[in-house]
Amino acid sequence: MSIIKACIFDLDGVIVDTAVYHYKAWKRLANELGFDITEEDNEKLKGVSRTRSLELILQWGGISKTDAEKEELAGRKNEWYVEMISRMTPDEVLPGAREFLELCINAGIKTALGSASKNSGMILENTGIAHLFNAIIDGNKVSKPKPDPEVFLKGAEELNEPPENCVVFEDAIVGVEAAIAGGMKVVGVGSAEVLGMANLVINGLNEMSLEKLYELNSPESKLNKE
Ligand code: BG6
Ligand code: MG
Repeated sequence: MSIIKACIFDLDGVIVDTAVYHYKAWKRLANELGFDITEEDNEKLKGVSRTRSLELILQWGGISKTDAEKEELAGRKNEWYVEMISRMTPDEVLPGAREFLELCINAGIKTALGSASKNSGMILENTGIAHLFNAIIDGNKVSKPKPDPEVFLKGAEELNEPPENCVVFEDAIVGVEAAIAGGMKVVGVGSAEVLGMANLVINGLNEMSLEKLYELNSPESKLNKE
C-alpha cells in the first residue's frame, strides 16, 4: 500500500503567479510581429514549454519562421520575462503556498519542485522560498515536456520515493496529465471544470491541509480514485 511521503509542486500558477509576466512578454512579441494574443490564448500556454509556446503563438499569427529565427524570438521574449521576474519579491508567493510547504516539512513530508521553467532558480531566490524544497527539478533538468511525466518522475527519484507515495500540485491540464501518467496522486489548483481529472481540486494552496492530503490515500475516500 502506498503512503504519502512527498509532495511535488509545479511553480507557475501554484506557488507564484508568473502567468501574467509570461503573458505580457508573449503579447509584446506577438505585437512586434504584427498581431495580438488574448488572455484566453494565454491559458493554452500554461505548463507548456517556451519552445512549444512560441510555436503555438506563431501558428495563431499565421507566421512561419526558421529554427534560428525561432531561437532568437524565444530569447527576446525571455529577456523581457527575466526583466520582470528579476523584480519579484517574497510578497508574490501565492496565499498559503509558503505555509503549506512548511506544514509538509514539519510533518516529515519531503518536497520538490517540478516545473517546466528554466527560470525557476531566479524566481525561488527572489521570493525567498528556495530553502523549502528538498529537490528542484525544472526545465534545465528535463528533456520531455509535460504531459510526459519525466519532470515528476525525476522529482520522485531525487526524493528517493516511489511515484505512488507522491502527490503532485498542478494548475495546468498537461501537468495533471503528466502526474497521472507518472502514477501519482494529483491535486489540481484552479477550476474543477478544467482540472476535473485530478483527485482533488482546490482554488489555491491556502485551501490545502494535511488532513486533505492524507485523505487522498484513505481507501474509503472518494478522492482516492485511480
Ligand atoms: C511553465 C509555464 O511553468 O514554464 C509556461 O507555465 C512556460 O507558461 C514554461 O512557458 C517555461 O518557462 P520559462 O521560464 O523556461 O520560459
Ligand atoms: Mg503551472
